[in-house]
Amino acid sequence: MRKPFIAANWKMNKILKEAVEFTDDFKLYVKDVKDVDILVCVPFTLLSGMKKEIEGTNIKLGAQNLYYEDFGAYTGEISAPMIKEFAEYVLIGHSDRRAFFNETNQILNKKIKKALEHGLKVIYCIGEVIEERKQGKTKQVIETQLREGLANINDLSNIAIAYEPVWAISRGDPDIPAATPQAAQEVHSFIREMIGTLYGKETSQQLRILYGGSMKPSNVKELMAQEDIDGGLVGGASLKADSFAEIVNFRK
Ligand code: 13P
Repeated sequence: MRKPFIAANWKMNKILKEAVEFTDDFKLYVKDVKDVDILVCVPFTLLSGMKKEIEGTNIKLGAQNLYYEDFGAYTGEISAPMIKEFAEYVLIGHSDRRAFFNETNQILNKKIKKALEHGLKVIYCIGEVIEERKQGKTKQVIETQLREGLANINDLSNIAIAYEPVWAISRGDPDIPAATPQAAQEVHSFIREMIGTLYGKETSQQLRILYGGSMKPSNVKELMAQEDIDGGLVGGASLKADSFAEIVNFRK
C-alpha cells in the first residue's frame, strides 16, 4: 500500500563534477525502477546542476535544510522559495543539524511549516542519541520530536518521517552497525501509533516512515521486510552509484 521510498542524503559531500559522474551511472542502474520512489538530497551548490542531470529520469531531487524566512538579511541562509526553483523535497531536522547547529524541535517546526507553505515535500528526521536509548528514553524522545516538530501542522500528506537512531549513523565508518531490523521496527511501529493518536488511523497508515543509520546493500532487504519500514534515508552508502542503486533495487 505504501510505495517504498529510498532517499540519499549526501550530507556535505561532492563537487559538481562528482555529482555528474554519479548521476551518469546511477540513472542507468535505476532506469527501469518504477515501484520505488528515488530521491537524492544534495548540498545547495549542486541543486542547479543536478536538476539538469536528472531531468526526464525517475530520480527526484531534494535539499538538506532551509531557513524559515522567505527572503531578507539572513546572510548565508537559503529559503524555501529558493529551493523550490530546483527541488521537490527538503530534509528537515537531520541529527547533524540538531547536534552541530542547535536546531530545536521549535525551530524545525517553523522550517517544516515554511517548506509546506511553498509546496515543498518534507522528510522530517527524528531519532534518539545513545545516552537517551541507554536510559530507556527512546520513545519519550521520539514522542516529543513528533509532537513539537509537527505542532499545528494538520496535513501530513506531503511529509515523510525518517527515523534515524543517532547511534547507528555511520559518519563515514562502515563498521558502525545499523539498528537490528527488530529494534528499528519497534520504533517505527511506535511512530505510526503516535501518528495514529495525533492524526487518526488513515493518516498513520498512509505515512511513509524511512529508516536511516548504516543502511547498505547487505542489510536493506531485512530492514525493508519490516512491516512499518517503508524506505531508507541513506548516507555513506548513497555516495557511490552502484551501492545506492543496489539499495534502490532491494527487491532484486
Ligand atoms: P549513514 O547511512 O552513513 O549511516 O547515514 C545515515 C544518515 O544520517 C542519513 O541521513
